[in-house]
Amino acid sequence: MSKVIALAGKGGTGKTTTSALLLKYLVARKMTPILAVDADANANLNELLDLNVQTTLGQIRKELKGDIPSGMTRDQYMEMKIHQALIEETGFDLMVMGQPDGPGCYCAANQYLAMTMDKLAENYQYIIVDNEAGMEHLSRMNLRNIDYLLIVSDPSARGIMTARRIADITGPLKLEIKRQYLLVNRAPDPVPPALQTKIDEAVAEADMDLAGIISSSDELINQELSGASYLELSEGSKVIEQVFAVFDAIFDDAS
Ligand SMILES: Nc1ncnc2c1ncn2[C@@H]1O[C@H](COP(=O)(O)OP(=O)(O)OP(=O)(O)O)[C@@H](O)[C@H]1O
Ligand SMILES: [Mg+2]
Repeated sequence: MSKVIALAGKGGTGKTTTSALLLKYLVARKMTPILAVDADANANLNELLDLNVQTTLGQIRKELKGDIPSGMTRDQYMEMKIHQALIEETGFDLMVMGQPDGPGCYCAANQYLAMTMDKLAENYQYIIVDNEAGMEHLSRMNLRNIDYLLIVSDPSARGIMTARRIADITGPLKLEIKRQYLLVNRAPDPVPPALQTKIDEAVAEADMDLAGIISSSDELINQELSGASYLELSEGSKVIEQVFAVFDAIFDDAS
């Protein structure tokens, strides 16, 4: 059974950055094959991985509403299309969701898509889902079973409050989440004691564990500016050592 790791958190906290770093970690630890899903309508995980996107699932969904070529069943056609949309790399594949349907559309195309995605998912050991801010479309995407939910927060009192709120609403969304974690990103180094207190309080009172704290890093900023893949960040670099230690704790703890 593949394990699903989903990213949540308010806008700009570092969900996509964490997704790219997590992908690097899983590849480095040979926890492969991995499916990386860019579930943000304004896809940008591919940019951090320096990969070009040709087709999104949203585009496929549109095509499915039209005629399919003769001599093919709809299932065959869709499976072919989905494989065309997969960007295949060493150790992982990337799938970009693209634009969603309008609200409330659970049309046939979506059902076909969900079925095919379920089948596809079986091929992977880990599935990383990079989300946009907000949790609604996790349920829309038919991803109701999540093994690890990483809630990313900025290093502010209000940011951590928002993360707590996210941890609290996952129940009512009818998502089946095995473990939820708080990940505080872009923190000052050393962590100010008042921030540490806020973090400790949040973890004690909300239904989430502390995954760890990632420092604000010039290396990440420079890597993004250069356009080079995050997968090429040196494993000896300070930020990668820090991030890998955070992920080691999560995955050792869970196994
Ligand atoms: N630890 C860090 N140190 C320095 N810069 C960082 C760090 N983490 C993220 N950033 C920067 O912060 C910005 C926002 O990060 P990112 O795009 O990962 O956030 P996001 O949560 O995915 O945003 P959105 O909600 O728009 O999808 C990016 O420019 C990224 O390079
Ligand atoms: Mg993002």
